Amino acid sequence: MYRTVTCGELRLADQNKEVTLAGWVQRIRKMGGMSFVDLRDRYGITQLAFDEGVNKEMFDIANKLGREYVVQATGIVRERYSKNAQLPTGDIEIEVTKLVVLNAAQTPPFTIEDDTDGGDDLRMKYRYLDLRRNAVRKNLELRHKMAFEVRRYLDEQGFLEVETPVLVNSTPEGARDFVVPSRMNPGQFYALPQSPQILKQLLMVSGFDRYFQIVKCFRDEDLRADRQPEFTQIDCEMSFVEQEDVLNMFEGMSRHLFKTVKGIDLPKLPRMTWADAMKYYGSDKPDTRFGMAFVELKTTAVDNASKEIVPQFFPEGFSVFDSANYIGGICCSGQAVLTRKQLDELTDFVKRPQIGAKGLVYARVHEDGSVKSSVDKFYNAEVLMGLKEKMNAQAGDLILILSGDDAMKTRKQLCELRLEMGRRMGLRDPQQFSCLWVVDFPMYEWSDEEQRLMAMHHPFTSPKPEDIPLLDTNPAAVRANAYDMVINGVEVGGGSIRIHDAQLQQKVFEILGFTPEQAQTKFGFLMNAFKYGAPPHGGLAYGLDRFVSLFAGLDSIRDCIAFPKNNQGRDVMLGAPGLLDQVQLDELQLKTDLKEQK
Ligand code: AMO
Repeated sequence: MYRTVTCGELRLADQNKEVTLAGWVQRIRKMGGMSFVDLRDRYGITQLAFDEGVNKEMFDIANKLGREYVVQATGIVRERYSKNAQLPTGDIEIEVTKLVVLNAAQTPPFTIEDDTDGGDDLRMKYRYLDLRRNAVRKNLELRHKMAFEVRRYLDEQGFLEVETPVLVNSTPEGARDFVVPSRMNPGQFYALPQSPQILKQLLMVSGFDRYFQIVKCFRDEDLRADRQPEFTQIDCEMSFVEQEDVLNMFEGMSRHLFKTVKGIDLPKLPRMTWADAMKYYGSDKPDTRFGMAFVELKTTAVDNASKEIVPQFFPEGFSVFDSANYIGGICCSGQAVLTRKQLDELTDFVKRPQIGAKGLVYARVHEDGSVKSSVDKFYNAEVLMGLKEKMNAQAGDLILILSGDDAMKTRKQLCELRLEMGRRMGLRDPQQFSCLWVVDFPMYEWSDEEQRLMAMHHPFTSPKPEDIPLLDTNPAAVRANAYDMVINGVEVGGGSIRIHDAQLQQKVFEILGFTPEQAQTKFGFLMNAFKYGAPPHGGLAYGLDRFVSLFAGLDSIRDCIAFPKNNQGRDVMLGAPGLLDQVQLDELQLKTDLKEQK
């Protein structure tokens, strides 16, 4: 037997027991006639003690150990003289009677400690060493626990986990596909699934009325902190359900996860329409850990989200506001103390190309209630006092205002400013959770690039029954039975009630610009399946990586994935993607000439 106990379990109550442990050498401290070795495994650290006077042979072996050597130690559990309150095993140590070196190790390229000296690239290149670090290992343990609790909850609710194929055809989720050449079908390609969307709908036609799968999905899109080219979905679908049933079922799942994994009782989730989310937060995934909702100071009839005309607030005078179609402000509590320099920094922040605002207007409410703004020369005190009232600003508050031609664009800029202020004001505590459903998404969004309407969620999403007549007259105004779960400004999941009627599906394809022939070629099998008795159905998919990273309080999903890709989509450890040799290329009948590859 290599070990009788792990490095995390011994306590004072185990005194005088003989035990055998195995693990990696974390640290060696030599103190004259005594040497101490911290032995580490997945479960913790146990101190091994070597006394030259008691066992010279073992003492000499210990002194030759290096960091990350793999050793086995047998000895007696003793109470420590100087205890370490930081470690669960800190009251004891092992008086080693036998030490065996199972494997020597080269000095690792970075120190394997919580605060490592390894930079990002180095850690990724040696990810197997990085994974020895507590911080990363804990994230994977959390991931396991969450996936386990998801399975437990869904199993209890009668869901069946069904595997769907990975070599499929293009699925229309809106990103680019990763493709795989077929040797047996020269010139033809499989696509890796962006999600099992169509397959899970087919399973509903098959009668599997509650399906789920924890499944890898692949999307060839530009990477961000919350995106990886391969990621994991908790993919779910149900038959004979309405939107309300799906929301309740999965609110239940989130509640179960919060309770079992974080010990948090999740309150009933509030719901916000997409239109309100855009109007008050400029985002379909608002971070509701804090307020600072937008106050509209001018809107126009062209405003899509609010559909209402609000009278102009500012009188004519300041040409920027006069010509703007949208003016919106946020009130930052207690921030009137910001210096001119800090306000200039904020102005630079909103003017960065990624945000794209033209400028920032601010107004400070002083302790005596007076208002001092960057547009004082255009407006009199009465207007500014009116602004204070409209913004519900108190003494000491700072009002920040953006304006622009395009209401949606300006709202998105204001959203970035609000998030930045929230961050600066310490209102985005990762240990605080604010969850909600965003509902009533539009069916379509206009794509400037493609010059056509595109499905906002995907083409199988059903319109709200009351909006179906609009499909003929004003498709852009049609709302969908689609919903997202948002936690702390992160879209953790999304789904919809699906179309289960072949004719309606055909019509939706038409609006998306597919000819009947194109629709038949691409999705004929789905529409055919619908002819054989498709039940009403709907579902959703969570992004497991995002859910775990939220629970772990991480900024990026990378550190809850064992072997993630870097920003260029590369696995620097495996050297993937890589070149193929000519034999393989020929076999696949790929025309690429290896000599031309760099
Ligand atoms: P959607 O495209 O919204 O819906 O994806 C569902 C959830 O998957 C997560 N996600 C990602 N996570 C990490 N990296 C990515 N590149 C990435 N892309 C998406 C998000 C998102 O909410 N078939 C539909 C679901 C349905 O309608 O049932 C779908 O895939 O957390």
